[in-house]
Amino acid sequence: MAPTLRLSDEGKYLIDQARIKKGWTQTSLTWRKEAEKFLKQQGVITSYASGSTLKRFQNGTGIRTEVFQSFCGAVGVDWTTTIRTDDASESSSAIPKLESQSLDSLRQNPFEGVPSVDGFYGRVNELRQLQEWLEDSYRLLIIYGFGGIGKTQLIAKILRENNEQRFARRLWQKFSYTLSLENLLVDLILRLLPDTNSLPKNQEELISKLLKELQKEKTLIILDEKNLDDESHLDESYSVGYKRYCAFLKQLSIENHQSCIVITTQRKPTDVTAVARNSVKTLDLKGLDIEAGFQLLKGNNLRFDEQTGRELVQRYSGNPLCLQLVSSTIRDIFHGNVRDFLSGNSLVAPDSIRETIERLIKRLSPDKKDILRCLASISTPVSIDALKQELPHISSSQVIEAIITLQHSSLLEKESEEDHFLFTLQPMVMKLVRQNLMY
Ligand SMILES: Nc1ncnc2c1ncn2[C@@H]1O[C@H](COP(=O)(O)OP(=O)(O)OP(=O)(O)O)[C@@H](O)[C@H]1O
Ligand SMILES: [Mg+2]
Repeated sequence: MAPTLRLSDEGKYLIDQARIKKGWTQTSLTWRKEAEKFLKQQGVITSYASGSTLKRFQNGTGIRTEVFQSFCGAVGVDWTTTIRTDDASESSSAIPKLESQSLDSLRQNPFEGVPSVDGFYGRVNELRQLQEWLEDSYRLLIIYGFGGIGKTQLIAKILRENNEQRFARRLWQKFSYTLSLENLLVDLILRLLPDTNSLPKNQEELISKLLKELQKEKTLIILDEKNLDDESHLDESYSVGYKRYCAFLKQLSIENHQSCIVITTQRKPTDVTAVARNSVKTLDLKGLDIEAGFQLLKGNNLRFDEQTGRELVQRYSGNPLCLQLVSSTIRDIFHGNVRDFLSGNSLVAPDSIRETIERLIKRLSPDKKDILRCLASISTPVSIDALKQELPHISSSQVIEAIITLQHSSLLEKESEEDHFLFTLQPMVMKLVRQNLMY
């Protein structure tokens, strides 16, 4: 059998510190690529730095020596200081103190990880609303909405330009419901407390350690959802991970502290708002308004008049990512002329949006798919009663539950009519439901 090495607890700490310093996640593709380069430089052609090996490396499972060395080398850590030499050491959670110089360099830059917000348009009301909530003492702010609708940009804009003063520390952290919550907690704790010399081993204790920090000093943590397309990185199924994160967020909003967590997510966390009504606020982010949409199209050098501009923005429900992507198609293929693009009468779904919607559809249960099919075939807004009549095989309560989930996943649009609501699908969701579930 090929010789293997295992990461010690101390080693894990050193690796985590070095990784965070580079701004890499625990499943970073760049880390793997750098490790592959390292292997090539060593002339190794029979071993690979795959995602699953990277995970085993961090879990402390034995992996081939040369790959172990490549993961350490990629983050610039001497591998000899990270290996487990004695199984008895497994029970120890002691972590060595780092040199104070390296600790200083790990102290957070307030904008670390915050995306730039060049070419940001509109959102005056949303920015004002969020700013107000941040100044009040809410513990959890949820920004949820469709992929590409501008959740990340919105909170990034606040951080970059409004210079939020209430908090002593600010932390921008990416997360995914499909990646381990424990790893996220370790990342957060190590970023807040770079000179930590011991880390608890289980999730409950990690959460209480984090909570202590949130109580000690007013901290703003942005949890920015990233969607992973490469399924090889998944730690657990979406629904298991989602429930775990919901429970974590619920706990953060119930416990007493002066800090605030802002989460951007395509799926609204369940239960949280009902349980901790006074400490949680939710922003259901919709598309850009027509005026901001026009600014975006102008910024992309498109030619349009009031009517064609409005039609384009509405066709994409004001989704800025879609408008950005489709603008480049209009520039490249229609010489920037919006009228020519629209006269083809086609609704082009940009790849990244198509993937987002298809991923959401794939995860749905059969009754929810039936509801989407029904909405796509009716194509005009309908009431819950009308839906129930169209779907006699689904019980009333299931229809209501399905509507809630679909709405929380940003797949449904809601309109109010007199004293009740009507539901429909956005044009692009409609198109993709037809393509994926009907024909
Ligand atoms: N207010 C805005 N003005 C101009 N462009 C915007 C605005 N908001 C977002 N965009 C554009 O849309 C893109 C997607 O925005 P963002 O990353 O914030 O979406 P998101 O809702 O966080 O998506 P996801 O759910 O995939 O994370 C941005 O990269 C930017 O190009
Ligand atoms: Mg985002």
